[in-house]
Amino acid sequence: MFLERISLPSILFILLFGCANNIAEELVEDCSEAENFYIETIAPIMSQNCVSCHSGPSSSGNQRLDSFLSVYSLIEVTLDRVNRDPGSAGFMPLGGNKLTNEQIAALQAFIEIDCE
Ligand code: HEC
Repeated sequence: MFLERISLPSILFILLFGCANNIAEELVEDCSEAENFYIETIAPIMSQNCVSCHSGPSSSGNQRLDSFLSVYSLIEVTLDRVNRDPGSAGFMPLGGNKLTNEQIAALQAFIEIDCE
């Protein structure tokens, strides 16, 4: 029979590779719009204003803002912080100037891109 010629390891390989491949494809497709927007628009804002404190193992507030996934998952609390008045408790960037309206609008746009 045909199937008897295919070894078990090669069947397993096909199954595993096939599944891993699907998962990778879903991630890439599902988030690509948000990810491109992150690379072009959001990452530069973060590296200018936030990454000095929010990266590496000893990040401020224990929150990193130096990758697509970290910023995407913290976008709500980030918007809350950058919208506060400078000098008030919890304002971000800590000790810095308030982000421009344009930068805040970009963060607002980022939250509205669905990652599905
Ligand atoms: C000078 C250092 C510094 C800079 C620059 C800075 N932060 Fe922070 N950030 C902190 C510290 C310290 C905390 C922890 C205290 C707190 O929660 O207010 C914090 C906390 C936060 C939190 C809260 C995380 C949580 O779990 O609730 C967010 C969100 C945040 N920062 C976003 C930003 C963003 C966005 C920027 C850039 C626009 C920024 N920070 C720039 C020092 C900084």
